[in-house]
Order: sequence, then C-alpha cells, then structure tokens
Amino acid sequence: MSSPHARADTAERYPAGDRAMSGGMEEDDGAERLRQRKLEEALEAKSLRRIISAFLNYPEAAEEDVKRYERSFRKLPPAHKALLSHYPQKFRRLRQCISANSYFIFSMLQAFEPPIDLSQEIDCCEHSDHENMQNGDLFSSERKICSNQTALNSGGLWSSTCEAASGDGDNAKCKAEEQTNNKELASRGHHDSTARNPCGCSESPEQRRDSDGNNLADSNKDVYSSSCDWLDPSLQLHVPLVDVDKVRCIIRNIVRDWAAEGQKERDQCFKPILEELDALFPNRSSESPPSCLVPGAGLGRLALEISSLGFISQGNEFSYYMMICSSFILNHAQTADEWTIYPWIHSNCNSLSDSDQLRSVSIPDVHPASAGITEGFSMCGGDFVEVYSDPCQVGIWDSIVTCFFIDTAHNIVEYIEIISKILKEGGVSS
Ligand SMILES: C[S@@+](CC[C@H](N)C(=O)[O-])C[C@H]1O[C@@H](n2cnc3c(N)ncnc32)[C@H](O)[C@@H]1O
Repeated sequence: MSSPHARADTAERYPAGDRAMSGGMEEDDGAERLRQRKLEEALEAKSLRRIISAFLNYPEAAEEDVKRYERSFRKLPPAHKALLSHYPQKFRRLRQCISANSYFIFSMLQAFEPPIDLSQEIDCCEHSDHENMQNGDLFSSERKICSNQTALNSGGLWSSTCEAASGDGDNAKCKAEEQTNNKELASRGHHDSTARNPCGCSESPEQRRDSDGNNLADSNKDVYSSSCDWLDPSLQLHVPLVDVDKVRCIIRNIVRDWAAEGQKERDQCFKPILEELDALFPNRSSESPPSCLVPGAGLGRLALEISSLGFISQGNEFSYYMMICSSFILNHAQTADEWTIYPWIHSNCNSLSDSDQLRSVSIPDVHPASAGITEGFSMCGGDFVEVYSDPCQVGIWDSIVTCFFIDTAHNIVEYIEIISKILKEGGVSS
C-alpha cells in the first residue's frame, strides 16, 4: 500500500541520472513538480487532520448541546419545570449516550491508519494559495489528497491505495453537511491488489494478512505512525461545528447500512439491485466470479452484499468520513452486535418519545468476515472520475451498480461515459 504513490511516481520519472542529462528547463520543471507534490501532500495532511479533529471534537460539541438544553431548562419558571421534571434525568441519559458514541468513535480512530504523515506542515509562504489556506479553505484549488482503505477479502485483509485530486460528491442523507464534506477527499486511484484484480495489478504480499491472521495494514510501511501519535492534541485543529455535524451524520448513516433496524431500508434500495445482479449473472462460478464495481459505496454494505452474492466486488468512495467508518466495521468487527451507538440523540425532531430518541442500536448486524464474501472484495478510496478514468480500467468490469450516486455528478454524462468505457463488452450497469 503506498498512498504516497505520487511521490514514487515523481522519483521514477525524474531519476537523478535523467536529471543530469536533461536541460535546465526540465530540471526546473522537475523541482516545481516536486514542490507541488509536497505542498499537495501537506494540504492533504491538513485536510485529514481536520476530519480527524471533527471526530475528536464530537464529545465536546455534543456536551455543549446538552449544556444548552440545561440552560434553557433552568430559565423556565418553576411551574413549567415541574411539568418537565423528567428532564434532568434525560440530560443524564443523554450524557451516557454521548459517552457510548464517543467510545465507538475513538475505537474507530484508534484503528485508523493514516496513509500520510499527519505531522507535516504546509509551507504557506511558498504557495500562491496562501490566502486560501489561511482562511481554512483547503479545498478551493485543484489538489490531491491521498487515502487508503482496507477491506475484507475472504482470505484476509486487502488494502487499497489511492492518490487523490479534488472533487465533490453528495450524500442524499446529509446533503447540507456534504456541501463542504464532499471536498474532503477525491482521488486518482490505484487499486488494491486482489487475487483476481480486475485491474490486473499484481498482488503485493505485504498487503495481505499474515499467517497468524494479523491485519497487515498495521505493519504496512506506508502507514504513518502505527502508534496513533497522530491523535496527539497538538496535531488537532479547531474545526467548525458543521464538521462535527458530518460525524453525527455518519453515526446516523451507520443504521441504514449496518444495523438490524436498517434492514427494511436496505431491502428497499439494495434488494432490487441484488436481485437484478442475480438474474443477470445466473451461472456464477466460484472459480471465475464476475466482477462488480459500486461507485459511491458509502459505508460499504451494498458492496459487501454483492460480494456475498458471488461477485468480485469493489466499492469506491471518496469521503474520508465514510471510509474511516466503513474500514473500521469491515476490518475490525470481531462479532455481530459488537458496538452500541445512539444515533438519534442529536435530533429533537421526529421522535415519538424520549425513549425513542434515546434508544440504542447495535452494530454491525452481521459480522462482515463471516458474511460469505467472495475473494477479491475491496474498497477503493478516491474520486470515481479520477480513479476509473485510468486506462487500466478500460473494459474490465462485468457489472457496475450505483445506489444514490449518479446524481452526485458535476457532469452526469461524464459518469456515464466512464461507466460505458470501463464495462466489458456486454457488461451491465444499473
Ligand atoms: C448519497 S451517498 C450514497 C451512498 C451509498 N451508495 C448508499 O446508498 O448508502 C453518495 C456517496 O457517494 C460518494 N461520492 C460522491 N461523489 C463521489 C465521487 N466522485 N467519487 C466517489 N465517491 C463519491 C459520497 O461521498 C457518498 O458517500
């Protein structure tokens, strides 16, 4: 796994020997590119730090909400307080729920392996986007962000690596939050190796689980700081509340993908897709399973279901928020119902009662590693357009399915054009 793929590329294209032979202009060009790459990576590090900070800020922001409720409650006249005498108990309960959610979030962050060195600083003075950076607007210019995500494979863990470029996306469930969220990650990607990688890339042994079953991502050389040094408070950023809202949004979205409570909704949107795939590929063989790509895979459940159906399934997703979470569930869940979260506590609307709002949800409803996945299951981080425009993707997919993704396009024709190029002759898309 080498998220700093861009750096490797640069080194290959501009080896010292070549530089010695090339003219001054080429040298300048090479130096400029290197400088650009360094800057891009530093920007990426800052962007990822901001996302991690949003996760880390969750308990504090949630506590602020409870304090606000308490202040409002205290301002009520005694007679009205008496009518709401159960409120202090509700506030205590809310704090317990926040604590449980925070435990899940911190577990998720501890399991996350940043694909880049998060301690690097941006040399703002060298860059013309200085002002944008000072304003915290890290996303306004074309830039690359790297990301990687591991995903399950029946034989063990696989890691995918992407180089990234700027891009946007959308999330029907949290449209408002996504306005900024979408800029967090996008990518020109490099796919993970799988036993039958549709891209034809060779498998790298260090990307696999070792014989003792250890997650090799932990020992991956390109993963910076396996000891969570990157969680050091000095690396954290002050983030706007809207970023923390994205974390709340993820907590809610988990229910649709990974809780028993989300089954009905999954049946409504995933089942027709799964039935269609089943009908279109009736004679799937386990020796040579058909491949299926799921762009905008969100938290990864549909990609997992497709894998369990007997396809070499690859989810593609460009949001770090989503990827950090799906990677945790896919790769680190030890049993079904391992974690308890309280997804509904942050909204005071559309709840039938306090107990409705404060109810717990167990996740995941299935143990992903025991879901009967087909070898080759993977998740690829990065912008769909960047990743799948790569020539190595042409004509390699038997099927491509999307669920609430097509309308995320800046240019829907571009999505359809890419889909038609990367499908095999006679391949299907739905
Ligand atoms: C509305 S959500 C749907 C997620 C998932 N398919 C589901 O049904 O739950 C759209 C997803 O697409 C992702 N996305 C948007 N644009 C993308 C792009 N260009 N490349 C990769 N992912 C993208 C978003 O981050 C988001 O997770």
